[in-house]
Amino acid sequence: MPAALLVSKSPPLCGELTVHGAKNSVLPILAATLLCRTPCVLHNCPDILDVTHTLQILRHLGCSCERSGSTLSIDPRGFAENAVPPALAGSMRASSLFLGALLARTGAAALTLPGGCPIGARPIDYHLQAFRALGASAEEEGGTVRCRADRLHGARLRLPGPSVGATENAMLAALGADGCTTIENAACEPEIADLGAFLCACGADLRGAGTPRIEIEGGALTLRRAAPASCAGVIEVLGQCGCRIRCGHDTISIHRQGPLTACRPVTARPYPGFPTDAMPVLLAAQLGAQGKTSFTETIFENRFLYVQELQKLGAKLSQDGRTVRLQGAEPLHAARLHAGDLRGGAALVLGAMQAEGESTIFGVKHIQRGYDNLEAALQSAGARLKTVEIPIKV
Ligand code: UD1
Repeated sequence: MPAALLVSKSPPLCGELTVHGAKNSVLPILAATLLCRTPCVLHNCPDILDVTHTLQILRHLGCSCERSGSTLSIDPRGFAENAVPPALAGSMRASSLFLGALLARTGAAALTLPGGCPIGARPIDYHLQAFRALGASAEEEGGTVRCRADRLHGARLRLPGPSVGATENAMLAALGADGCTTIENAACEPEIADLGAFLCACGADLRGAGTPRIEIEGGALTLRRAAPASCAGVIEVLGQCGCRIRCGHDTISIHRQGPLTACRPVTARPYPGFPTDAMPVLLAAQLGAQGKTSFTETIFENRFLYVQELQKLGAKLSQDGRTVRLQGAEPLHAARLHAGDLRGGAALVLGAMQAEGESTIFGVKHIQRGYDNLEAALQSAGARLKTVEIPIKV
């Protein structure tokens, strides 16, 4: 029902007021939850119409959203749509941020031109220029903007003006791109820093939000509570494969630059040599690498149980005693696999994640012995896997 305020001449204000969370911070953060694979809980969210409308957009896209006081819980796992309903898009300017988020998440986005306060022409040409620079098509026709990209790639962007919305949209889209993006002449408003802080809390590799130059590593995977010094051998080998790795005190961010190349031959040896437990997963990670390499085990005589299983996926591997040679990348296809030991089981999961189709891995108990909910951890990073019960035959 339309409302009106009746305002009378008032005395000077005194007392205490609590400032609520900022609209211009919460709206981009809500759009950014689309990039997450697990539920997000946001505190101190104002109960304002733009938030209500943004939650309606998220629900329309398939997310479940709940409010409890000023706390919002967003579960993006049911996400299935990539078009924002016109009435909701038209209700506020911030709906434009779904373009960047949807593009990063699905490679496609459609939106009728956003509304908002009539304080100027408010074009979104800078936003669309940024999407195009990242490799997307971005066209406007009949008041609807459509963006599409088979693959987004990192790019060096210079915004024509320090637009708040264009900076946020470019940040969101860049997270779905392969490689590094720099945004120059970025807006420096506090809401940009807030969006950056949220994205970093979700694992994004992003620096400089709130300054005129923002750097984003798209497609990065960040491990928290890691011990970089203990993994020096593994980190070195991954660096040989074309991965860029940045370590913090207890974080490791890994990002692949271009195609994976085969590492130099690896030999597992006692610490500080290359760890025998890391070799199965490293070998599986190399199945798509360009070039040849080999893996030699010096500690356990029967460590390569998983190699014949990886061969069922089509992997070009040959074993000669304690050395397994990888003859180059082959297209992998789904297979029925049997995990025979813990680390080898994890290698099968990684191999199956690279194979076309849906593989079945038996012997899951071996994997469960050593990994705390591997399924959920990998799902949260975008992997497609699920545990199913096997009917017992009598
Ligand atoms: C955001 C805020 C708004 C605030 C404004 C400036 C949200 C939802 N809205 O709006 O409350 O008043 O920042 O702090 O966060 N421009 C173009 N082309 C573009 C984009 C912008 O020409 O593609 C121009 C605009 O017309 C305007 C100027 O750049 O003259 C600044 O706009 P921008 O910083 O983008 O503001 P919004 O993100 O729309």
